[in-house]
Amino acid sequence: MLSTLIYRSRAVTPMTAQDLTDLLTPARARNAAMQVTGILLFDGVHFVQLLEGPDEAVNLIFDAIQRDDAHRNVVLLMRDHGPARRFGGDAMALLDLRELGPQQVSSRILAKMKQPPRWAGSDDRVVKILGWYADARGTDPIVEGEEAANWQLVAIDAPLAQEDPAAPARPYPFALQPIVNPLRREITSFEFLIRSQAGGSPEQLFASLDPADRYRVDLESKASAFELARRLGLTDVKLSVNLLPMSLIEDPSAVDRLVDQVAACALLPQHVIVEITEQEAIERPRAFRDAIERLRRAGIGVAIDDFGAGYAGLSLLAEFQPDKLKIDRQLIQNVHQDGPRQAIVSGIARACCAMGITPVAEGVERVEEWCWLQAAGIERFQGYLFAKPALNGVPAVRWPERIRPR
Ligand SMILES: Cc1cc2nc3c(=O)[nH]c(=O)nc-3n(C[C@H](O)[C@H](O)[C@H](O)COP(=O)(O)O)c2cc1C
Repeated sequence: MLSTLIYRSRAVTPMTAQDLTDLLTPARARNAAMQVTGILLFDGVHFVQLLEGPDEAVNLIFDAIQRDDAHRNVVLLMRDHGPARRFGGDAMALLDLRELGPQQVSSRILAKMKQPPRWAGSDDRVVKILGWYADARGTDPIVEGEEAANWQLVAIDAPLAQEDPAAPARPYPFALQPIVNPLRREITSFEFLIRSQAGGSPEQLFASLDPADRYRVDLESKASAFELARRLGLTDVKLSVNLLPMSLIEDPSAVDRLVDQVAACALLPQHVIVEITEQEAIERPRAFRDAIERLRRAGIGVAIDDFGAGYAGLSLLAEFQPDKLKIDRQLIQNVHQDGPRQAIVSGIARACCAMGITPVAEGVERVEEWCWLQAAGIERFQGYLFAKPALNGVPAVRWPERIRPR
């Protein structure tokens, strides 16, 4: 099957026309032997390259290209299949954008397409992507993270609040995971993640319950979370608890009960954030809106959890703007090398900015992901990179420390 792949990257050192020729001469020979064709655009800083050919050959060459330390920030922009090649005549055409005026780029790309395929008209994604990156030079819309090698993560000794091991078992154990602003070395909140008595996940716990008990347990368990916060002395940091939207909707006194639970632990409603996943919220929009209004009137903050994982995120966001938007881990994973994820996440970050919402990236595991997200304007993070959840206690946090100048 015929694969088409486009990526972009940044040259590590400035490259002359001769450097490009030296790079491409052996590359063209290998491409020809493996039936790979394509085009390489270079603007003096960034490469954008299209490779097309048999699946296996394209994958092999792209693997080698990713390992090449002549460039960095290799980001996959497109991987697709098609019935025919676009740049069939050339083992690797070169377009040195430095030699062209901005108006000439698109027509030169089209001219390099030896036989513009009939199925690939002006709506062709390949032509659009190549044109977009080529035309964007100078205005630099590309978000690039700092090099991960500039940073190391360090655990800084801090007194860790831990539940007294002799304390009696609680009906609802919780694991705490911090949400951090790493550059400020600040824990902005703790998410309280419910666990089963056997240490199982919230999904396992709720699946084990009679459906009729789900919402009652959901609400009732929050008292244990606030009680744990009080015992751990977490009185001057925000506390995030997850709540099924239906728990708020089914019981008209739910918000009053939450407020009572918070007050009983000598905490302030302003310190509490209720995290809600979008799924159930949209099934009963009016009742959901009323419940949110009650939370807001009580001074409790609201976050949308796992944003982007469900099916109605954007329309929910159009109807209701939370204080915080937690971007789902599926969008965060490997964002540093994934063009579509970068386009989506930077769009979300920009939209949040315009609406006064704080975006939070969930599930951050790699320094590279953090570097890119930070460059995209996100400042709050949750994930194993910084801290793993700790049962009934506050986990150690690892903070990034610069070890090489930018
Ligand atoms: C921007 C750029 C584009 C490249 N394009 C190709 C290419 O089209 N085909 C190819 O075989 N090598 C290409 N290379 C070179 C490969 O990265 C790599 O050096 C070469 O495949 C040998 O890899 P190996 O030593 O890991 O086998 C390119 C390198 C760079 C920096």
